[in-house]
Amino acid sequence: MKILKTQVGIIGGGPAGLTLALLLRRQGIEAIILENRSREYVQARVRAGLLEQNTVDIYKTLGVADRLLKEGQQHHGVYLSFNQERVRIPFGELTGGRNITIYGQQEVIKDLTDAWLAGGGEIYFETSATRIEDFETSTPKIYFEQQGQAGVLTCDFVAACDGFHGIGRKTLPASAYQEYTISYPFSWLGILAHVAPSTHELIYAYHERGFALHSLRSEKISRLYIQVDNDDHLDNWPDDKIWQELALRLGTTGWELKTGPIFEKSITPMRSFFTDNMQAGRLFLAGDAAHIVPPTGGKGLNLAVADVKHLADGLQAYYQQNTLETLAAYSATALKRVWRAQDFSHFMTTLFHKQAEHGSYQYQLQKAKFDYIKMSEAYATSIAENYVGLPFEAFEKNI
Ligand code: APR
Ligand code: PHB
Repeated sequence: MKILKTQVGIIGGGPAGLTLALLLRRQGIEAIILENRSREYVQARVRAGLLEQNTVDIYKTLGVADRLLKEGQQHHGVYLSFNQERVRIPFGELTGGRNITIYGQQEVIKDLTDAWLAGGGEIYFETSATRIEDFETSTPKIYFEQQGQAGVLTCDFVAACDGFHGIGRKTLPASAYQEYTISYPFSWLGILAHVAPSTHELIYAYHERGFALHSLRSEKISRLYIQVDNDDHLDNWPDDKIWQELALRLGTTGWELKTGPIFEKSITPMRSFFTDNMQAGRLFLAGDAAHIVPPTGGKGLNLAVADVKHLADGLQAYYQQNTLETLAAYSATALKRVWRAQDFSHFMTTLFHKQAEHGSYQYQLQKAKFDYIKMSEAYATSIAENYVGLPFEAFEKNI
């Protein structure tokens, strides 16, 4: 049996696990990452690409933001469209200069993995954690399997950064937490295409045929999405039909959608999920292991990074001041932002997706919200500050 030992055993080499490992290294705390998949697989996995100001600031502090700042695109506003009428929400003016950066998650993963390895960090790919034991004691153990060989990682703390399907959450005692799930009656068909974006800032659109989003990756690559039914299939969506639908849903007077060869296509269901407790003994959940938000607010990766910041603060307090107090409050601290993001992601999802007949009561509520954005700077500001992400200090006030 392969035997490993470290201070913090991290399951999962996604954004949560890698960011945590780098935050810990800065404090002189040791960590080992176990990752189920191969390095190639993890780095090729296409996901959203919206980084909040908080996330970029953390990556700058960690010294891993060089490429992000060079190749990522800073956006100072976003377009919201309803029935082909488009308005812009200017973040800069409404949030005192905060903004977002568009940079693909797989690029983030490459930068973090490179930085972890370059500093001598240990990450075991194609290594699957199978069981977590003794997390109620001071020597928890993560049992794993690496290409048929069994092993155990003994550590002081376990960070389960192992995504929605991981073993971390399932290991929490059933009595320790409640789960909440909403499955939406629609999915996103997402594409990547070799074509210059037809917009400088993202466009979120409600249309009577359904939601559409125009995002981007670079000057030559566009990322776009359309709402489809949950039982829909990629076979029903030849490239021409996707472009036609996008042009209709995103369209507005005097604007044209540029089209080009599509090189990635996938369908993702929309879900909101969370657990009301993210820890038990010396086992801590972070990121998708504890919560999922629909991508309409662009919050997934940012929540994972905020979680591990709080977790790293707690671990630092333990190793440097010998107190477990900050760690004991981890769940409560992280959940404040999780709830905010759950609410905002649900709000954006229900505002822009077609849920009931065009013209129905539900539709009129959606339209009333859109009209309110146009007439009230206060409402637009609320959307802007949630979209760019509230600063960490905001959650420390009076809650
Ligand atoms: N053993 C080892 N690794 C595991 C195990 C296991 N038993 N189970 C899962 N993993 C790995 C997965 O292969 C994956 O690489 O854990 C990692 C979890 O990474 P993510 O799913 O990316 O989750 P997280 O790091 O929390 O990042 C959240 O990812 O889903 C997106 O939009 C979401 O941007 C958000 C971000
Ligand atoms: C993306 O660029 O993939 C993206 C951006 C914003 C979202 C969702 C996805 O809300």
